[in-house]
Parts: sequence; structure tokens; C-alpha cells
Amino acid sequence: MGHTRRVTSIIEQDQQVIAEISNDFPHTAVVYQVYPRSFADSNGDGVGDLPGITSRVPYLRSLGVNAVWLSPFYPSALADGGYDVDDHRDVDPRLGTLQDFDAMLAALHAAGIKVIVDIVPNHTSNRHPWFVQALAAGPGSPERDRYLFRDGRGVRGEEPPNDWESIFGGSAWAPTGDGQWYFHCFAAEQPDLNWENEEVREDFRRTLRFWADRGVDGFRIDVAHGLRKDMSEPYPPWGEIADIMRPDGSHPLWDRDHVHEIYADWRRIFKSYDPPRFAVAEAIVHPTRRARYASADSLGQAFNFAMQDADWRPEDYRQVINDGLADMINNRSTTSWLLGCHDTPRVASRYGLPLDDGRTAQQVARDWLLTDGTTPRLDWTLGARRARAAIMILLALPGSTYIYQGDELGLHEVADLSQEALEDPVAGRSSSEKGRDGCRVPLPWTQQEPSYGFGPGGAHLPQPDWFSGYAVSVQDADPDSTLNLYRQALALRSQLLAGDGLNWVESELSVLHFARPGGVRCITNFGTEPVALPAGEVLLSSAPIDHGRLPADSTVWMRVS
Ligand code: GLC
Ligand code: CA
Repeated sequence: MGHTRRVTSIIEQDQQVIAEISNDFPHTAVVYQVYPRSFADSNGDGVGDLPGITSRVPYLRSLGVNAVWLSPFYPSALADGGYDVDDHRDVDPRLGTLQDFDAMLAALHAAGIKVIVDIVPNHTSNRHPWFVQALAAGPGSPERDRYLFRDGRGVRGEEPPNDWESIFGGSAWAPTGDGQWYFHCFAAEQPDLNWENEEVREDFRRTLRFWADRGVDGFRIDVAHGLRKDMSEPYPPWGEIADIMRPDGSHPLWDRDHVHEIYADWRRIFKSYDPPRFAVAEAIVHPTRRARYASADSLGQAFNFAMQDADWRPEDYRQVINDGLADMINNRSTTSWLLGCHDTPRVASRYGLPLDDGRTAQQVARDWLLTDGTTPRLDWTLGARRARAAIMILLALPGSTYIYQGDELGLHEVADLSQEALEDPVAGRSSSEKGRDGCRVPLPWTQQEPSYGFGPGGAHLPQPDWFSGYAVSVQDADPDSTLNLYRQALALRSQLLAGDGLNWVESELSVLHFARPGGVRCITNFGTEPVALPAGEVLLSSAPIDHGRLPADSTVWMRVS
């Protein structure tokens, strides 16, 4: 290290392109994901709620995030954690009322925090009035045309129309009893909508306007890659389409080109507001196709799931970052980085399990969950240390960053939830997945019983004893806590790191080193031995710097003299 030179092709003109695209709020924002049922409970029923979120606005402000994304808080039977929506334009009575929503929105806005709500357009719940009507109306009715009903095979339609499988395991078809079956990519309680139907399109326009009129700033679009489907016969056998990632838009269910027509239509709605509303896509697509969702005439932003799937290896990070930057330059889109969400084992645990050549850290963690977290052995300290180093990389990158609630506390996955406690439909349906509850356990705020300050009552998923040591109150008092690292990083980011482009600085293979145009360097040591740092001023480090040397598994932000 020491001397620097450019090793990428990011020339001045490219920097200019990045500056143009990234120079507005959503493209540089740090967004905090709230999973409402597990954030804060105001009334002691064990379920987090909207007044609970309002009561914690000072916390969000002290963290320094620019926006919150709320996972669904709509009326729901919770067949899929609220992603089974009964009514898209209301609040689940267990979580509050529309008035509570308005109060929460006002409190967040008063704290300078924007609000993103989750839109779930691929499916409704099976309790949605439309679906109830569709079942009652019978085959061939306009009510059934809002969903994907098909005749079954066999003499009386007793066999499903084809052998396609649901993402959650088992058949993607559920019988109605009258010879027809309905299609569901996820749980049977989540019937897929028919996006060729104009009533469906109009209803979602109404939903977007409903929340935008209330003052919501942006939308996270659930399963954005799934809305347009080719359900025409002959159906390809499941074996041919089980791999959902295709580089050419040819899969019958996922990432078909026409999906962007819907988003171009929505963009007209977004633009009709001042300031324009924004959106971010959850699109599980081939990496070369992500930029389409992030383009200015589609949704404008898309999560970079490659970052969430990356292992703790410098070559993985380098690759994911270069791909994200290439998207910015070639497709004039930005990247939304993330290390975790409500669907993935927590990053601290992923990075504390031994690396495996055949499987990604994600897969290793999912398999480890099946053993209730006993095998292989989790190195708690190492995982937490790497997670601290990782978030400093993300926050140093151009683009926006999403933080999943509890990651700022360095929480590990709760791996030993008992089978009876599990709520995720994935758990019941699949023997190869324990499900996603381990990252959805209600947050610890204090060391107080009965629920570590989550609320005056219990918690809908049992909290482990070790949560006590991770409570916000404990970390508030510790200057070196992960919570305080996040606070410092966020404060510095807004002063120093927002903006355009980056340059790689030549370094040893085990070191990731880049410079931001404002002069700040981000250096990460993925190796096992400390590495010498260039002379200069250290702004922040994820672990103590020892005599000018950056210890293993840590990141520093510095200015070089
Ligand atoms: C998205 C959500 C996930 C949900 C699924 C079905 O992937 O993030 O939690 O289960 O959509 O709505
Ligand atoms: Ca409650």
C-alpha cells in the first residue's frame, strides 16, 4: 500500500454520469427497515404496532437514518408475516388505525425522516374481498379473472393444471373444489393476481395514490419481478423452469419484459406529486437484469441482492461493487446496497460461520438453522466483528443503503426457536428450511422483563436471554458498541461520503481499498494479519487501530496525508 493509482476504468466522464443520477434523495439515502410487528409494542399485546414506532422516532433520529421502510402493516391473517394483504388501504387493527399512521408519519417527517411503505402487487390474501368473491362466483366469471384460475386435469379436474411448485414448497396450485385451481407463487393463502386485468391495474393505481396523498414519500415493491406471467399452454415442465434466473426474460413466471410497462405507468403517478414519489424494487433477477428495475422510467431503484449473497471474501465484495458501479455507468441507474432484510439469516451470524467452497454464506446459514444453530459452531465474536466491517463498506459506497432493524445492534440470528414458536409458513412447508423467524424476533430496547423493553407485555416470538446484552440501553452507554459505530458512520457519511463515484486503490489481495472523490478512503482487511495503513487521519474504524495497523476483519475510513 502507500502509493495509489487508478485500477478501474472509471474516468471523469463516468464520474459525471454517476453524479447526475445519484444527486437526489432516494439515491443516496440510508433507509432503515422496520418490521412493524417486531419493532416496538405500545399496548402490551406482544405485537409491535404503529404507536410503538412513533414512540421510537427519537431513536431513529439519533441513529441518523434518512428514511424508514415499513414492511406491511395492513390487515392480514399473517399467513406470511403480513405479506398476505386483506386490504391494501387500511391498517391492521392490531397495529393501529389510519390516524395512528398519520401521527407516525407526521412524527417521522418532523424528525426529517422520510417514509416508504411496502406495496404487495403480486398477490392478495385469500381473505381479500376479491378472492372471496372469485371463489363464490365460479369458473369463467369476471371475478375469477382478477386471479389466475385454471381448469384442473383429470376427469373432474382433480389434478392440478401442471407440476409447477411454490417458492415456499409444494404445489403452486390450490383446488377450489369445483374443478378449477388457483395459482399461488407463495403460500396458498396468497393467490396471485392477474395483471392482464384492467381492474387489478386500476386498483393498484388507487392504492399508490391513497398512500401518496397521505404524504408517504416512497414505495418498496414486493416481488416486483413477478407480475407479468405467461400462463399459456402448453406449460413447460417444472424441471425446465425451476431455475428462476434467466438473462433474457424468457421465464414464464419471472422477470418478463412487459413488467416494466406497469412501472412506467406507476411512474406517471409518482411524477404527479411534488416532490415526486420514489420506489425501490425487490427483484430477484439475473444480475444483468437488475438495472432495468432501477432505471428512471421503471421503478428507479432496485435492491442489490448480490451484496446480501456475498461471502466475506474480498473478491466477492470487489465483484459486487464493480457490477453495481458498471450498472450506474452503463444503465444510468443507482444501486441500493443491503446486508440483510426480514427474509435472510442475520449478517452477523452469516459471517461467523465457517466458509464453505460449495455453498454461499447464505446457504451455510440456512442449513445451520436446520440444526437449531448447533452445527457448525457459530463464532459470535468473529461474525459481529465482520458485520461491523461490512456495514462500513456499504455506507462508504455511492448509492443508497438499507439497514434491517436490529443489525445496528449487531444482533445475531435467533437460531434455536422451537418448532412450536415458528410463525413463518416456510417452516411448516419445507423440510429443507427452518424459515425466517430468527431475524424477526422483537428487538431488545432495555434489560427489563418481560420483553426487554419491546413493550409492557411479552413478545410474539420468544426472545433469547442473550438479547439482554444487546439492548439499546446497554449499547447507548458503550461508546464502542455497534449501535454507536452505526451512529458515527451515519453522521460521517452525510458529511463526507455522499455523492459520486469511487476509485480503487491498488492493494494486497486480502485488502479492499477505495477512495471517494471527497478524499475519504475506505480500507478493509479481509486477511488474518494486521496490515499497515497509509499515513493520515483516521475518521472511524470498526475495530481499534493498533500502531497504524488495521487488524483482521475490520474497516477504516481515513484521509491520507
Ligand atoms: C417478498 C417478501 C417476503 C414475502 C414474499 C411474498 O419476498 O420480502 O417476506 O414472503 O415477498 O410476498
Ligand atoms: Ca401491540
